[in-house]
Formats: sequence, structure tokens, C-alpha cells
Amino acid sequence: MTKRILLIIGGGIAAYKSLFLIRELAKRGIDSRVIITRGGTEFVTPLSAGALSGDKVYTDLWNLTDEAEMGHIELSRQADLIVVAPATANMLAQAAHGVAGDLATTTLLATDKRVLFAPAMNVRMWEAASTQRNVEQLKQDGALFIGPDAGAMACGEFGDGRMAEPNIIADRIEAALLGDMTLDGLRAPKSLKGKRALITAGPTREPIDPVRYLSNQSSGKQGYAIAQALADLGAEVTLVSGPVDLPAPLGVTRIMVETALDMLAACEDSLPSDIFVSVAAVADWRPAKTTAQKTKKPKNGPPPLELIENPDILKTLCEHEKRPELVIGFAAETHDVIAQARAKRLRKTCDWIVANDVSGDVMGGNENAMILVTQDGEECWPRMEKIHAARKLAHSIANALGSSN
Ligand code: PMT
Repeated sequence: MTKRILLIIGGGIAAYKSLFLIRELAKRGIDSRVIITRGGTEFVTPLSAGALSGDKVYTDLWNLTDEAEMGHIELSRQADLIVVAPATANMLAQAAHGVAGDLATTTLLATDKRVLFAPAMNVRMWEAASTQRNVEQLKQDGALFIGPDAGAMACGEFGDGRMAEPNIIADRIEAALLGDMTLDGLRAPKSLKGKRALITAGPTREPIDPVRYLSNQSSGKQGYAIAQALADLGAEVTLVSGPVDLPAPLGVTRIMVETALDMLAACEDSLPSDIFVSVAAVADWRPAKTTAQKTKKPKNGPPPLELIENPDILKTLCEHEKRPELVIGFAAETHDVIAQARAKRLRKTCDWIVANDVSGDVMGGNENAMILVTQDGEECWPRMEKIHAARKLAHSIANALGSSN
């Protein structure tokens, strides 16, 4: 089901960043309904926020039309999370003391939903004892915080006070909506520290002769993103990669290979591992013969190309004496995606399989819509950037195998 946040845009110069936040959340399949405070409207207009959110924007507690259509109680009821960005010193003070003077603060007082504040203000206002007391009070009341960041500010000073960047706020929102994180008061995903993860990514290249080969369009983006996301959660990650044009993810050991046979050997050499995620688009067949010299063009028609089957790396590791505890396959399908993925999970004997419809631009592209198929059923995730899909999968893995921080 689509998640929705109620975004309260306060009166600060960082309000413009909240417009980017709405767009970033939309890309991740999260809807925003927006309240702009009176101060906020000095910096951004309801028109621009409404155009980006695709929804009516609320500004006034005393607008009877709005109260008839959707009161402040209803606004918070319909949200999964309330986000205040930018949260000014004044907004924090009112929220900490239960002052309800306008639509935004009344909504905050009336809500039973979690609230994430992204403060933004002058460094001295942030450091003021009163602001710090208010932040402490709000944290004690269960509020979540992200930022502020340090840096140069619009007022010309330098220090803590800049609102966190929209993509970072979006990460925290996504994490909070997943219900498995606390960072600065958000529940953190379970840690994968002490766990080893083996990932395959990219295509394989099966040579015909020194200059020709069989391959596919896999770019490695999805596998690399998963390797990075698992490393970010503390796992010790080995990435066995086919030939792709991507830098090694940070903190990940990468082994470059060409053929399916090389990939299998590198995977077996990398065991034992707690987790195996088989993202590579391994060529199912390879030429039966590879010639040492370039094949000459025959006079009468194309040369015959005899193929033989490559080993199934995923199945081999599933049946291995050192089988990883959690084995996750990928199913690249163009039709009957879920049914085919279910059958593939059973055939390959992996624990989970991630189905993706590759009839569009998923292979080689930047986005993916994954369906996680386990023995308990299916979870469909909306189309999103591969890095975000990777994080979601990494969180599911951490939930299954990780330990609490
Ligand atoms: O690399 P990108 O451009 O980011 O694209 C990502 C992706 C589309 C390649 C990826 O998300 C994906 O779907 N990977 C699996 C591709 C695939 O080979 O699917 P399959 O349904 O043919 O194979 C099923 C599973 O068996 C896969 O986990 C595959 O890694 C594994 N396999 C297949 C054949 C083989 N010989 N050995 C294997 O291990």
C-alpha cells in the first residue's frame, strides 16, 4: 500500500529544500500531503508544493472549507508519519510546550503519529540552551530528529544549523516507514556486523573466439547497489562481478570474472558465507568450442554455433555443503512474473527469490520494481531507484539475520 507523510513546511530559507524532498519521496513511491505555515509561505508557495505533491496544500486552521473537508485531526490521521522540514526554533519551542497557535502546531498537538523534525536555523539559535531543552523534551516525547548539518548558512555564519539534504531526510522517512530504524531516536536497522555476504552481479561473457562473445545487457547496477547496502549495514561483503563499467562499492571486496565458470569458481572460493545474493545475469549457455584464433567468415552462410549448458551457480551454492544460511536468487521474467518466480524458488531451492519484470528497461536501467517471494508469500515493492530497492532488500536481510544494535 502507498505510504503517505504529512509534511509541515516551516518558515525558514531551507523551505525550498522541502520541495525537493516532496519530489524525492514521490520517486520512492511515498505520497506527501503538505501544510505550509504562514512563515513558510514567505519562502515557498502553496502552488509549487501542490504542483509537486499533486494534492491540495493546507495553510490555515480557520479556513472553514478545509475544516469541513479535512480538519487537522483528519490530516494527521491519514498520514503514516508527520515530517516537519524545516523545523524552526519557534516551531520546536511550540511543539515542545504543546502550544497550538496555527494549523501546523495544532496538528502536531493532536496527532498520535510519529513526528520527524528536520531542524534548520542559525547556529546560535540551534545552540541556545532553550532550543536544546526543547529538542531534548521532544525526543523524550518520542519525536525523531534528522540533522541539522554543519556548514555555511544563508545568514553568513558557519556551524550546525543547515537542514539535512532532501535525500538524507527521505532515507530517514523511508526507514521510519519501514518501521525498522532508529537513527537519532529512529530505530536502527538490525546490524549485519559479523555476517559475511557474497553477491554476484553483472553479466557473464562467454567467448566464441578472441574477439566475439555471448553476453547480455546486465549493467551490474542492481547487484552493486545490494553489495553497498549490505556493507553499509556492517556485513563483510564479497562481490563477484562480471565485466561491467562500475567502480567497486566502498568497503566491499570485489573479484572480477568473465565467464560463468569463473564466476562459479570465485563464489565457491569465497565460501563460507552467511548470505548469498545471486543477482548476476549468468549466461545459461556457452559455446561448446572457443577457438584460439578469430573465426574466418565461411563462404556459404554463417558458421554453426554449438552451445552447451553452463553450471547453475545459484543451485550449486544451494546444494553446497557450505550452503549459506540465507540464499536469495533473482528471477528475471517477462511474463507471469510471480508464478514463474515462485516455481523458480522451489526449483533452485533458494530461501527467497526477488522477481523483477525485465520486459521494460530494468536490465541496464536505474530503476527496478521488485517482488520479494518467500515461503510465506509475496511482498510487492513500488518501482524505485535501484539503490533504494537494494536498501529495502538489505533491511529485509538484516531483519532476518541481523542482530540488534
Ligand atoms: O545488472 P542490472 O542492469 O542492474 O539489472 C539487474 C538484473 C535485471 C540483471 C537483476 O535484477 C536480475 O534479475 N538478475 C537475475 C538475472 C537472471 O539471470 O535471471 P534468471 O531468472 O535467468 O536466473 C535465476 C537465478 O539463477 C538468478 O539469481 C541468477 O543469478 C541465477 N543463475 C542463473 C543461471 C546460471 N547459470 N546460474 C545462476 O546462478
